[in-house]
Amino acid sequence: MARRTRRGALDRGRLPRHIGIIMDGNGRWATARGLERSRGHRAGSRAVRAVVRACRRLGVPVLTLFAFSTENWGRPRREVQALMELLSEFIAREWQEIMRREIRVVHLGDLRRVPGEVRRQLLSLERATRHHRRMTLALALSYGSREEMARACRRLAARAAAGRLRPAAIGIDEVSAALDTRGLPDPDLIIRTGGELRLSNFLLWQGAYAELFFSKRLWPDFTESDLRAAIADFQSRRRRFGLTDEQAEERERA
Ligand code: IPE
Ligand code: IPE
Ligand code: MG
Repeated sequence: MARRTRRGALDRGRLPRHIGIIMDGNGRWATARGLERSRGHRAGSRAVRAVVRACRRLGVPVLTLFAFSTENWGRPRREVQALMELLSEFIAREWQEIMRREIRVVHLGDLRRVPGEVRRQLLSLERATRHHRRMTLALALSYGSREEMARACRRLAARAAAGRLRPAAIGIDEVSAALDTRGLPDPDLIIRTGGELRLSNFLLWQGAYAELFFSKRLWPDFTESDLRAAIADFQSRRRRFGLTDEQAEERERA
C-alpha cells in the first residue's frame, strides 16, 4: 500500500534499491523530426544526465542503464559508430560531476567488442570511482542477459573442472555471484520507455521479481517527473513474492 506523505511526494524510506532502465525510442524521436537517428541518440544522452542526477538526488542506491545491447551490434555501422562516439563524449563530459557526486561507475557486458578508446575510458572511470559510495551507476554496454548467463556458466564450470567448486554446491547465490551484476542488489523496478512491452535480453535472471513499468514516452523526452511517476507507481504496488496477500501485508508491516 502506498504510504505517501503528500500528493506527488515519494516515500523516501521505500525507494527501489535498484532501478534498471531500457532507454528505448531515440530513433523514433529523431525520425519524427526528420532528423538522423544519431541525433536521437544525442538527445537521449541529455535525458541520461537528467535521470542520473535525479536518482542521485532522490537517494536511489543503484541505477542500471541499458545503453547498448549485444543485438545492437547488428545495426548499420554508421549508427554503431555514432553511439560509441556519444558514449565516449558522455564519459568525458560527465567525469567531473560523477567524481564530485561520488558516484561509483561499473559496467555490465562484454567490453571486448567495444572500441579500444571507449573501453579504456570506461575502465579508467571505473577505477577512479571504485571507492565511491553515494550511488552506483551500472552501464550495460555490449550487454545481453543470455550472454552474461553463458559467461557465468563458463566461470562456474571452469572452477568445478579445476576441483575448486562442487557442482552440488551451485545454488542461486553462486550463479548470482558469477554474473556481471555480482554485488549489486536485484532490480526492484525495471522501466522501459518507447512503448514496447518487452525486456529485449535485459537482466533476465536479476529481474525475476522486478516490478515492470512501461512508458510510451520516447527516451529523449523522459524527464525527472516521468521517473518520479514510475517510482510512485512502484510504491503503490504490493509485492507478494509468491505469498498470499495477507502474508505480504504482514511482511510489509514487520
Ligand atoms: C534506444 O533507442 C537506443 C539504443 C538501442 C542504442 P533506439 O535506437 O532503439 O530507438 P527506436 O526504438 O529505434 O526508436
Ligand atoms: C533495447 O532496445 C536495447 C537498448 C535500449 C540499449 P532495442 O531497440 O534494441 O530493442 P528491440 O530491438 O526493440 O527489442
Ligand atoms: Mg529501439
